[in-house]
Amino acid sequence: MSPSPSPSITVRVPAKVNVQLAVGGRRADGYHGLASVFFAVGLYDEVTVTPSDRLGITVQGTDAQHVPADPSNLAARAAVLLAARHGLEPAVRLHIAKDIPVAGGMAGGSADAAAALVGCDALWGLGSSPAELAELAAELGSDVPFSLLGGVALGEGRGELLTPVPVTGSFHWVFAVADGGLSTPAVYAECDRLRAQHGGADEADVPVPAADPALLAALRAGDAAALGAALANDLQPAALSLRPALAATLRAGGEAGAIGSLVSGSGPTCAFLAKDAEAAGTVAQALAGSGTCRNVRVAEGPVAGAVVVR
Ligand code: C5P
Repeated sequence: MSPSPSPSITVRVPAKVNVQLAVGGRRADGYHGLASVFFAVGLYDEVTVTPSDRLGITVQGTDAQHVPADPSNLAARAAVLLAARHGLEPAVRLHIAKDIPVAGGMAGGSADAAAALVGCDALWGLGSSPAELAELAAELGSDVPFSLLGGVALGEGRGELLTPVPVTGSFHWVFAVADGGLSTPAVYAECDRLRAQHGGADEADVPVPAADPALLAALRAGDAAALGAALANDLQPAALSLRPALAATLRAGGEAGAIGSLVSGSGPTCAFLAKDAEAAGTVAQALAGSGTCRNVRVAEGPVAGAVVVR
């Protein structure tokens, strides 16, 4: 007889870059209306869920010491939320193998929460529909629904209302990971502070955010040069204000031949688009030798969202 299969379930989940992040004025609830074009890239965390007598969490990988291994971790909160919705105890151990930069603007924490939802749903045999998981994901955080979905999608509302965006082919990215993270609320607050100096930061003062038709056309056509030209992030001035050294990182990637660059989400990771795999290698090598970042990652996308791998 073969041994009984391990009851553990492992879910792989990608990082994201926002190829466009249009940020509206501050709303009454403190959030900002967005037109966010999320793009899933092939840098992954893996979350393994195993039955246990009580909720536990462990984290492994570079910078694991900067990830809370306690119930405040968004992945643990995901397990608690899903269990509560079904009248269960969150009796599970979560192990996060971390490869997505921590606090880097690449939705690593959101990715882990999405993976925990998918893993616990499978482990507990709940059979939740994608819509049911997406609703729980939106309660956990603005970027969590996209981590479930993957691919490329326009996020409206505070980023959680998703519409898939058609894409042709694959794009080649290089990511320059900075030393230390940036807090997302702090970057939004800095964006508001800068806007308040120039006319106002509230909804009445700022144009309603909208997806850029040229960017959507570039994605649909698989046109890397046009996508590179259309990359845009309204949080970039705020990230640069909090971390002025990022300007040198962006410059170094541009000088190495990137066809587009921007700060990823709330930063501080900088993202560079290359015209092909060879150019991505050249940009990565130049960035690694530039002394302007801690390390460099190369990844293709778009890729699928959270999936059970074993
Ligand atoms: O939704 P999430 O918990 O990921 O958001 C983290 C923080 O980012 C929020 O507390 C808020 O400060 C800021 N945020 C925002 N507008 C959004 C999304 C996030 O102001 N649309």
